[in-house]
Amino acid sequence: MPDSHITYSQDNLTQAVLDRIAPDTDPRLAEIMRSLLGHAHAFVREVQLKPGEWERAIAFLVEMGRFCDDKRNEWIMLSDVTGVTMLVDAIAHASHEDVTETTVLGPFHRENPPLLGNGDNLSPGLEGETLELRVTVADAEGRPIEGAQVDIWHANGEGGYDSQIGDGERHMMRGRFTTGADGLVQCWTINPSSYPVPHDGPMGRVLASMGRSPMRPAHVHFWLKAPGYRDLITHIFADGDAYLHDDAVFGVKASLVCDLEARRRAGESDHLVLEYEFRLPRV
Ligand SMILES: [Fe+2]
Repeated sequence: MPDSHITYSQDNLTQAVLDRIAPDTDPRLAEIMRSLLGHAHAFVREVQLKPGEWERAIAFLVEMGRFCDDKRNEWIMLSDVTGVTMLVDAIAHASHEDVTETTVLGPFHRENPPLLGNGDNLSPGLEGETLELRVTVADAEGRPIEGAQVDIWHANGEGGYDSQIGDGERHMMRGRFTTGADGLVQCWTINPSSYPVPHDGPMGRVLASMGRSPMRPAHVHFWLKAPGYRDLITHIFADGDAYLHDDAVFGVKASLVCDLEARRRAGESDHLVLEYEFRLPRV
Protein backbone atom coordinates (compact mmCIF):
# COMPACT_ATOMS: atom_id res chain seq x y z
CA MET A 1 0.00 0.00 0.00
CA PRO A 2 1.46 3.37 -0.94
CA ASP A 3 1.74 5.85 1.92
CA SER A 4 -1.41 8.01 1.76
CA HIS A 5 0.55 10.90 3.31
CA ILE A 6 2.37 11.57 0.03
CA THR A 7 -0.92 12.89 -1.39
CA TYR A 8 -1.66 16.46 -0.48
CA SER A 9 -5.27 17.57 -0.36
CA GLN A 10 -7.25 20.61 0.68
CA ASP A 11 -7.28 19.08 4.14
CA ASN A 12 -3.58 18.48 4.81
CA LEU A 13 -1.71 20.81 2.43
CA THR A 14 -1.57 23.88 4.68
CA GLN A 15 -0.15 21.94 7.62
CA ALA A 16 2.33 20.19 5.34
CA VAL A 17 3.65 23.56 4.13
CA LEU A 18 3.88 24.91 7.69
CA ASP A 19 5.71 21.76 8.80
CA ARG A 20 8.47 22.47 6.24
CA ILE A 21 9.59 25.56 8.20
CA ALA A 22 12.84 24.32 9.73
CA PRO A 23 13.08 24.37 13.53
CA ASP A 24 16.20 26.56 13.42
CA THR A 25 14.55 29.27 11.27
CA ASP A 26 14.90 32.75 12.74
CA PRO A 27 12.00 32.95 15.26
CA ARG A 28 10.56 36.23 13.95
CA LEU A 29 10.78 35.07 10.33
CA ALA A 30 9.12 31.78 11.28
CA GLU A 31 6.31 33.69 13.04
CA ILE A 32 5.75 35.90 10.00
CA MET A 33 5.88 33.04 7.49
CA ARG A 34 3.55 30.80 9.54
CA SER A 35 0.96 33.57 9.63
CA LEU A 36 1.46 34.66 6.02
CA LEU A 37 1.17 31.11 4.66
CA GLY A 38 -1.82 30.34 6.87
CA HIS A 39 -3.67 33.49 5.73
CA ALA A 40 -2.72 32.90 2.07
CA HIS A 41 -4.11 29.37 2.15
CA ALA A 42 -7.23 30.52 4.02
CA PHE A 43 -7.78 33.23 1.39
CA VAL A 44 -7.51 30.75 -1.49
CA ARG A 45 -9.97 28.44 0.27
CA GLU A 46 -12.39 31.23 1.15
CA VAL A 47 -12.70 32.60 -2.39
CA GLN A 48 -12.20 29.18 -3.99
CA LEU A 49 -9.56 30.70 -6.29
CA LYS A 50 -9.80 29.38 -9.84
CA PRO A 51 -6.69 28.48 -11.95
CA GLY A 52 -7.37 31.31 -14.42
CA GLU A 53 -7.60 33.81 -11.57
CA TRP A 54 -4.36 32.50 -10.12
CA GLU A 55 -2.66 32.97 -13.53
CA ARG A 56 -3.92 36.56 -13.69
CA ALA A 57 -2.55 37.19 -10.20
CA ILE A 58 0.90 35.89 -11.17
CA ALA A 59 0.90 38.01 -14.35
CA PHE A 60 -0.07 41.03 -12.22
CA LEU A 61 2.86 40.49 -9.85
CA VAL A 62 5.27 40.19 -12.80
CA GLU A 63 3.90 43.41 -14.31
CA MET A 64 4.19 45.21 -10.97
CA GLY A 65 7.89 44.39 -10.81
CA ARG A 66 8.50 45.55 -14.38
CA PHE A 67 6.93 48.93 -13.61
CA CYS A 68 9.47 49.71 -10.90
CA ASP A 69 12.65 51.70 -11.43
CA ASP A 70 14.72 54.19 -9.43
CA LYS A 71 12.01 56.86 -9.80
CA ARG A 72 8.89 54.78 -9.45
CA ASN A 73 8.01 52.13 -6.90
CA GLU A 74 4.73 50.48 -7.85
CA TRP A 75 4.90 48.25 -4.75
CA ILE A 76 4.92 51.19 -2.35
CA MET A 77 1.89 52.63 -4.14
CA LEU A 78 0.04 49.32 -3.98
CA SER A 79 0.79 49.13 -0.26
CA ASP A 80 -0.37 52.75 0.14
CA VAL A 81 -3.69 52.45 -1.71
CA THR A 82 -4.57 49.21 0.07
CA GLY A 83 -4.06 50.87 3.47
CA VAL A 84 -1.25 48.47 4.44
CA THR A 85 1.31 51.29 4.75
CA MET A 86 -0.87 53.26 7.14
CA LEU A 87 -1.65 50.15 9.17
CA VAL A 88 2.07 49.43 9.61
CA ASP A 89 2.56 53.10 10.48
CA ALA A 90 -0.28 53.05 13.02
CA ILE A 91 1.19 50.00 14.77
CA ALA A 92 4.73 51.41 14.80
CA HIS A 93 3.80 54.90 15.89
CA ALA A 94 0.90 54.65 18.30
CA SER A 95 -0.40 58.19 18.62
CA HIS A 96 0.95 60.27 21.47
CA GLU A 97 -0.54 63.66 22.10
CA ASP A 98 2.84 65.29 22.75
CA VAL A 99 4.54 64.37 19.45
CA THR A 100 3.68 64.90 15.81
CA GLU A 101 1.78 62.15 14.06
CA THR A 102 3.30 60.27 11.15
CA THR A 103 2.02 59.35 7.72
CA VAL A 104 3.19 57.65 4.52
CA LEU A 105 6.60 58.30 2.93
CA GLY A 106 5.16 58.04 -0.57
CA PRO A 107 7.14 57.26 -3.73
CA PHE A 108 8.62 60.72 -4.47
CA HIS A 109 11.32 61.23 -1.83
CA ARG A 110 14.78 61.53 -3.43
CA GLU A 111 18.17 61.08 -1.87
CA ASN A 112 20.67 63.94 -1.99
CA PRO A 113 18.23 66.85 -2.45
CA PRO A 114 19.65 70.40 -2.73
CA LEU A 115 21.15 71.64 0.55
CA LEU A 116 19.40 74.92 1.40
CA GLY A 117 19.33 77.47 4.20
CA ASN A 118 16.72 79.67 5.81
CA GLY A 119 15.28 82.25 3.43
CA ASP A 120 16.00 80.13 0.35
CA ASN A 121 13.48 79.28 -2.37
CA LEU A 122 12.60 75.64 -3.07
CA SER A 123 11.11 76.54 -6.43
CA PRO A 124 13.15 79.27 -8.12
CA GLY A 125 11.75 80.20 -11.53
CA LEU A 126 8.64 78.07 -11.18
CA GLU A 127 5.20 79.56 -11.63
CA GLY A 128 2.65 79.20 -8.87
CA GLU A 129 1.02 80.84 -5.88
CA THR A 130 3.59 81.90 -3.28
CA LEU A 131 3.73 79.73 -0.18
CA GLU A 132 5.95 80.48 2.80
CA LEU A 133 7.01 77.51 4.93
CA ARG A 134 7.76 78.39 8.54
CA VAL A 135 8.23 75.25 10.60
CA THR A 136 10.06 74.51 13.83
CA VAL A 137 11.53 71.27 15.12
CA ALA A 138 11.11 70.63 18.83
CA ASP A 139 11.17 67.85 21.40
CA ALA A 140 8.05 66.52 23.13
CA GLU A 141 8.16 69.44 25.59
CA GLY A 142 8.44 72.07 22.85
CA ARG A 143 12.14 72.81 23.30
CA PRO A 144 13.80 73.60 19.93
CA ILE A 145 16.12 70.94 18.49
CA GLU A 146 19.35 72.21 16.95
CA GLY A 147 21.01 70.28 14.13
CA ALA A 148 17.88 68.49 12.91
CA GLN A 149 17.90 67.50 9.24
CA VAL A 150 14.68 68.50 7.52
CA ASP A 151 13.86 67.14 4.05
CA ILE A 152 10.97 68.94 2.35
CA TRP A 153 9.33 67.98 -0.96
CA HIS A 154 6.03 68.59 -2.69
CA ALA A 155 4.16 68.73 -5.98
CA ASN A 156 3.60 71.83 -8.13
CA GLY A 157 0.31 73.64 -8.78
CA GLU A 158 -0.63 71.02 -11.34
CA GLY A 159 0.06 68.13 -8.98
CA GLY A 160 3.36 67.03 -10.55
CA TYR A 161 6.58 66.14 -8.71
CA ASP A 162 9.96 67.03 -10.22
CA SER A 163 10.57 63.40 -11.18
CA GLN A 164 7.37 63.50 -13.26
CA ILE A 165 7.98 66.70 -15.20
CA GLY A 166 10.63 67.80 -17.71
CA ASP A 167 13.44 65.25 -17.99
CA GLY A 168 12.70 64.10 -14.45
CA GLU A 169 16.31 64.65 -13.39
CA ARG A 170 16.32 68.23 -12.12
CA HIS A 171 15.57 68.69 -8.42
CA MET A 172 12.67 71.10 -7.92
CA MET A 173 10.26 71.78 -5.07
CA ARG A 174 12.53 69.97 -2.68
CA GLY A 175 15.42 70.70 -0.37
CA ARG A 176 17.26 69.71 2.79
CA PHE A 177 17.69 72.11 5.71
CA THR A 178 19.53 71.89 9.02
CA THR A 179 18.03 73.66 12.01
CA GLY A 180 19.89 76.21 14.11
CA ALA A 181 19.47 76.80 17.84
CA ASP A 182 15.90 78.08 17.38
CA GLY A 183 14.84 74.89 15.53
CA LEU A 184 13.38 77.01 12.72
CA VAL A 185 13.19 76.29 8.99
CA GLN A 186 11.87 79.18 6.90
CA CYS A 187 11.75 79.06 3.11
CA TRP A 188 9.72 80.00 0.06
CA THR A 189 8.03 77.84 -2.52
CA ILE A 190 4.89 77.47 -4.62
CA ASN A 191 1.56 76.16 -3.39
CA PRO A 192 1.09 72.45 -4.26
CA SER A 193 -2.22 71.15 -5.52
CA SER A 194 -4.05 67.89 -4.98
CA TYR A 195 -2.94 65.19 -7.41
CA PRO A 196 -3.68 61.64 -8.50
CA VAL A 197 -1.23 58.94 -7.49
CA PRO A 198 0.36 57.56 -10.67
CA HIS A 199 -2.39 55.31 -11.97
CA ASP A 200 -1.23 54.44 -15.48
CA GLY A 201 0.15 51.08 -14.35
CA PRO A 202 -1.10 47.85 -12.76
CA MET A 203 -1.77 49.56 -9.42
CA GLY A 204 -4.03 52.06 -11.21
CA ARG A 205 -6.05 49.18 -12.65
CA VAL A 206 -6.56 47.86 -9.12
CA LEU A 207 -8.01 51.23 -8.08
CA ALA A 208 -10.21 51.50 -11.17
CA SER A 209 -11.48 47.95 -10.75
CA MET A 210 -12.81 48.91 -7.31
CA GLY A 211 -14.28 52.20 -8.53
CA ARG A 212 -11.83 54.20 -6.40
CA SER A 213 -10.43 57.68 -6.93
CA PRO A 214 -6.64 58.01 -7.27
CA MET A 215 -6.66 61.56 -5.81
CA ARG A 216 -4.68 62.81 -2.82
CA PRO A 217 -5.35 66.11 -1.02
CA ALA A 218 -2.70 68.84 -1.39
CA HIS A 219 0.22 68.42 1.02
CA VAL A 220 3.88 69.09 1.71
CA HIS A 221 6.13 66.18 2.73
CA PHE A 222 8.58 66.35 5.64
CA TRP A 223 11.23 63.86 6.80
CA LEU A 224 12.94 64.98 10.00
CA LYS A 225 16.03 63.39 11.51
CA ALA A 226 17.81 64.45 14.69
CA PRO A 227 20.37 62.57 16.81
CA GLY A 228 18.70 61.04 19.86
CA TYR A 229 15.19 61.31 18.36
CA ARG A 230 13.02 59.00 16.27
CA ASP A 231 12.79 59.88 12.58
CA LEU A 232 9.56 61.65 11.74
CA ILE A 233 8.05 61.07 8.28
CA THR A 234 4.89 63.04 7.76
CA HIS A 235 2.92 65.50 5.61
CA ILE A 236 1.15 68.74 6.33
CA PHE A 237 -2.16 68.92 4.48
CA ALA A 238 -3.92 72.07 3.27
CA ASP A 239 -7.16 72.70 5.12
CA GLY A 240 -10.25 72.94 2.93
CA ASP A 241 -8.95 70.55 0.26
CA ALA A 242 -11.74 68.64 -1.48
CA TYR A 243 -9.95 65.31 -1.02
CA LEU A 244 -9.17 65.48 2.71
CA HIS A 245 -11.88 62.89 3.38
CA ASP A 246 -11.08 60.72 0.35
CA ASP A 247 -7.29 60.38 0.32
CA ALA A 248 -6.36 57.47 -1.99
CA VAL A 249 -3.71 56.31 0.51
CA PHE A 250 -5.63 56.96 3.77
CA GLY A 251 -2.79 59.22 4.98
CA VAL A 252 -4.73 62.18 6.41
CA LYS A 253 -4.75 62.82 10.16
CA ALA A 254 -6.62 65.78 11.65
CA SER A 255 -3.53 66.95 13.58
CA LEU A 256 -1.62 67.32 10.29
CA VAL A 257 -4.09 69.68 8.61
CA CYS A 258 -2.97 73.32 8.45
CA ASP A 259 -4.92 76.45 7.48
CA LEU A 260 -2.59 78.06 4.92
CA GLU A 261 -4.91 81.06 4.60
CA ALA A 262 -5.00 81.97 8.32
CA ARG A 263 -2.32 84.69 8.24
CA ARG A 264 -3.71 86.26 5.05
CA ARG A 265 -7.25 86.26 6.41
CA ALA A 266 -6.01 88.01 9.54
CA GLY A 267 -4.30 90.67 7.40
CA GLU A 268 -0.87 89.58 8.65
CA SER A 269 0.42 88.30 5.32
CA ASP A 270 -0.15 88.83 1.61
CA HIS A 271 0.64 85.20 0.78
CA LEU A 272 -0.11 81.66 1.97
CA VAL A 273 1.82 80.50 5.04
CA LEU A 274 2.37 76.96 6.29
CA GLU A 275 3.25 77.27 9.97
CA TYR A 276 3.77 74.17 12.09
CA GLU A 277 5.71 72.97 15.09
CA PHE A 278 6.99 69.42 14.73
CA ARG A 279 7.55 67.57 17.98
CA LEU A 280 9.86 64.55 17.84
CA PRO A 281 9.82 61.63 20.27
CA ARG A 282 13.09 60.55 21.83
CA VAL A 283 14.58 57.25 20.65
FE1 LIG B 1 2.89 63.59 -2.05
